[in-house]
Amino acid sequence: MNQLFQRKSVADCENDIAERGGLKRTLTKWHLAALGIGATIGAGIFATTGTAIVGDPLRPGAGPAIIFSFLLTALACGFAALCYAEFASMVPIAGSAYTYAYASLGELVAWIIGWDLIIEYAVGNIGVAIGWSGHFRVLLEHLGISLPAWLATDYRTAFEAAANVASGATDSSMAYLASAVSEAPRIGSLPIIFNLPAFLVVMALTWLLVVGIRESANANKAMVILKIGIILFFIAVGAFLIEPSNWTNPATGGFAPNGFAGISAGAAIIFFSYIGFDAVSTAAEEAENPARDMPFGIIVSLVVCTVLYIALAIVMTGIAPWPTLGTPEPMLTALEHAQGPPMLLNASSFIVALGAVIAMGSVLLVFQMGQPRIFFSMARDGLLPPVFSKVHPKYKTPHVGTILTGIFVGGFAAIANIAEVVDLTNIGTLFAFVLVSLGVIVLRYKEPDRVRPFRVPWVPITPLISIVACLYLMFQLPWVTWVRFGLWLAAGLVIYFLYSMRHSRLRRKA
Ligand code: ALA
Repeated sequence: MNQLFQRKSVADCENDIAERGGLKRTLTKWHLAALGIGATIGAGIFATTGTAIVGDPLRPGAGPAIIFSFLLTALACGFAALCYAEFASMVPIAGSAYTYAYASLGELVAWIIGWDLIIEYAVGNIGVAIGWSGHFRVLLEHLGISLPAWLATDYRTAFEAAANVASGATDSSMAYLASAVSEAPRIGSLPIIFNLPAFLVVMALTWLLVVGIRESANANKAMVILKIGIILFFIAVGAFLIEPSNWTNPATGGFAPNGFAGISAGAAIIFFSYIGFDAVSTAAEEAENPARDMPFGIIVSLVVCTVLYIALAIVMTGIAPWPTLGTPEPMLTALEHAQGPPMLLNASSFIVALGAVIAMGSVLLVFQMGQPRIFFSMARDGLLPPVFSKVHPKYKTPHVGTILTGIFVGGFAAIANIAEVVDLTNIGTLFAFVLVSLGVIVLRYKEPDRVRPFRVPWVPITPLISIVACLYLMFQLPWVTWVRFGLWLAAGLVIYFLYSMRHSRLRRKA
């Protein structure tokens, strides 16, 4: 039992750094904030907001009250962010929640978090790739190129759209998606439907990452400015098109058509749009002054995203009747339904589609780069097979892990449904937040004297609020998501006891 909770000492972590040369401390607090924003604004806001507003067969929609969903989730993330900040300043080495857990809570918890982070990074990126593909398709349409729908969506989306059209939906994106069913080539009676752009974008990024793209902090800053610019543009144009009756129309159920149930269900979906601020913690080893700058980076990126998201939600639900927004491209759909000069609406749609493709592209890159590095740390510790810590002789990148991640993410992006992927990512990430918050409490009691450059205020109240809030959001997710998550964790434990436990470097050393 003791061995299961054996911890990797901070000295061991530092030895690992010495072995591979360590990283330069060059990132300022603003670089860190930009890193968080860069990893955060993506498919969540551009693609999943539609489901949260309208709902789906498993849960009610929030309607215009989605604004409160964004606030609710921001609060939950805020408490978790403080806990991440304490860990990141206490163990300021590269890695992630996995590394913190190994140094503080022991091997088994570290393994569970590492296994769980695959859901946050790799499964999350399946969702981002699907969101990217939808906006890329619209962008191509603006350029006069149209992809057949059977090459640009998945079975569930296509069949749901076909059912909506059969029951009277008339908007063009719904009709397009429905055409996948009627126009697809068939094997026997089975239509062939898959998402080719989602697959190809992941393959292209995988190739880039294998040959060694260096994402410099300055390039990231430029992307962030662009992302924020596009969102401010949408807000500015949309502000003139707002029709307040869209928020209050009794015919569509008023401001909060499904009351608090809709707001909470929406909050659990749009949690996806906040994932990424925790990625700031992975750069702890490169921060000039981790104790002061980590909490700053994490919290500022969370605040900036919250303000932008709420403004966006106000505009999106203000320019179009909310029941029309249930598509994978809700901002573009809102522009399609808005009342205004057609030239302006068309130009705005082009600009938003372009911005979304760039924004999601950068999220894809950050997470696609992060996943092999987590595998790398786990393999170096012996918990995964050594191929994952292989470094390419010429490009010096963890190429095997990068390619395997690419095949996994690209393969599923070609066939998966975005709502299902987002639910799974959310439950997995919320669980990681729960473990990190729990870790803060446990360590305060077990190692009260350890140096903590940043301390979460009012322990154990703050981490407890974080745990309760995250569990609350987890319980808003459909039961089928819980089943999938349970199976994932069970598979992880089987691998741990059959392989990782026996190969653990720490254990062999002991
Ligand atoms: N928060 C990231 C996104 O929305 C995962 O794309």
